Amino acid sequence: MTAKKIQIVEVGPRDGLQNEKPWIATKTKIELIEKLAESGLKKIESTSFVSPKWVPQMKDAFEVLSGIKRKPGVTYSVLTPNMQGFERALEAGVTEVAIFGSASEAFSQKNINCTIAESVERFQPIIEAAQNNNILVRAYISCVMGCPYQGEVPVESVVELAEQMFEMGCYEISLGDTIGIGTPDQAREMVQAVTEKIPTSNIALHFHDTRGQALANIYACLELGVSVIDSAVAGLGGCPYAKGASGNVATEDVVYMLHGMGIETGVDLEKLIETGHFISAVFGRMSQSRVSCAG
Ligand code: HMG
Ligand code: MG
Repeated sequence: MTAKKIQIVEVGPRDGLQNEKPWIATKTKIELIEKLAESGLKKIESTSFVSPKWVPQMKDAFEVLSGIKRKPGVTYSVLTPNMQGFERALEAGVTEVAIFGSASEAFSQKNINCTIAESVERFQPIIEAAQNNNILVRAYISCVMGCPYQGEVPVESVVELAEQMFEMGCYEISLGDTIGIGTPDQAREMVQAVTEKIPTSNIALHFHDTRGQALANIYACLELGVSVIDSAVAGLGGCPYAKGASGNVATEDVVYMLHGMGIETGVDLEKLIETGHFISAVFGRMSQSRVSCAG
């Protein structure tokens, strides 16, 4: 049942950098993205067309997306929370966007300043405009295993939103454990419930590693046949609107585990580790990837 080949969606330049307070030069962001592409990653979430008042680090989204020397075969996707962001992304030459909602009502309010139902209404015109421009739309669901504000999140809320977003035309639903709170049986049960409504091939895992559970959770879900995993180089990441959220599972660690299981990723681990050291040096700290630290 476990897939022979896994698609990694590298979210470091977006999920990773959005959480860093000191300003990162636009050229450094672009260099990071280009190095990631050189390491063989084919899907790189590059930036986020959100309000600069909400996430100042992403205020150069246009310059980043339009400044990348694009490698053929690589998709450089971005977050677009509303039409304003989508239109700007279109001008910058985007080919894939992601909308982001939440299974938790409380988190929806904190992160995008609206209810879940309002967010779905807001996503509709983005999806339509994207389809008219041949742009793929991915959807995130946050707080799939718990919320920093409301605590427990019922699996039914995750399933309902996943089904809704899939029916609206999103080709992939990325299930976000925003605060890295889930454990393997819970992750498997949650994903299993989603697969009862949408095909497993349209599901991605987006697990933050706050409590060191991400690899175990991924492993548990791989057994269900999931074939897309989000991760961030050097374990960067976190959401500025999720209290206590820390990094995503490190791409280096995911790639190491998958290669050890005989699963293809197309990623050159050595080049990826070098890229992780490059970006960690920018922040003057060690990479959060365990594989990188092992030398
Ligand atoms: P709002 O304040 O309700 O929006 O924010 P508004 O329409 O009232 O606009 C307020 C101001 O923002 C206006 O400017 C707009 O022009 C501007 P003013 O008139 O005051 O000068 N504005 C924009 N500017 C640039 N680009 C835009 C844009 N939209 C409005 N797209 C909004 C609503 C959704 C915009 C806001 O809440 C927002 O930007 N939220 C984003 C928060 C965020 O980025 N969070 C992190 C990403 S999600 C995440 O990390 C989770 C994930 O990784 C999965 C997981 O781990 O679970 C995906
Ligand atoms: Mg995230």
